[in-house]
Amino acid sequence: MIHKYRIYNIFYLAFLLFLPSGVGIGEILENKDKIHAHMLWHYITREKPYKNYPAWPGKEGFYESTMPPGNILKLYINELALDTVLHKKGVFPDGALLIKENYTDNGELFLITVMYKAKGFNPAGHNWYWVKYKPDGEARLEGKVDVCISCHVGVAGNDYAFTGSIK
Ligand code: HEC
Repeated sequence: MIHKYRIYNIFYLAFLLFLPSGVGIGEILENKDKIHAHMLWHYITREKPYKNYPAWPGKEGFYESTMPPGNILKLYINELALDTVLHKKGVFPDGALLIKENYTDNGELFLITVMYKAKGFNPAGHNWYWVKYKPDGEARLEGKVDVCISCHVGVAGNDYAFTGSIK
């Protein structure tokens, strides 16, 4: 019995070891009971630093927001999201991440807003998990954030994304 148990343990360990490189982000976060902003911050800054993510095609580098007061933006998206944009898949898959940095006119980062597709989190809102972070990782708003949703719902037909058509 004990012997059998040990073998299972070894498989479990091997499974855990290969997780970070082997599977997509969705699976990693879903292993935990419930997604929350702290866990997501750790993921996007330590495990898979977002600064290494690709840009939204056509939005490389810094650009100006269409919303007053016209902050300077930088938008990073993970590979899952990039695949959706490139191949016009119409809807982002579980695990997709859109991370927008907001800078002041004089180049100071002051806000990071994130959309994370969390499986089963909020089907009515396309399962987007919304977070507004300060640059030090403190979450000011997270989850089903009404203020984010109430504006982005205007582009619900584009899976809540403003930056470009994904269809
Ligand atoms: C009043 C409207 C409005 C509100 C409120 C708003 N957004 Fe946005 N958001 C936009 C627009 C417009 C863009 C496209 C970039 C731009 O022009 O600023 C955008 C872009 C984004 C993007 C890049 C992906 C995309 O949709 O193009 C993310 C991520 C994002 N917002 C997250 C958030 C979060 C998180 C909140 C709440 C804390 C929020 N937004 C609140 C209007 C809004």
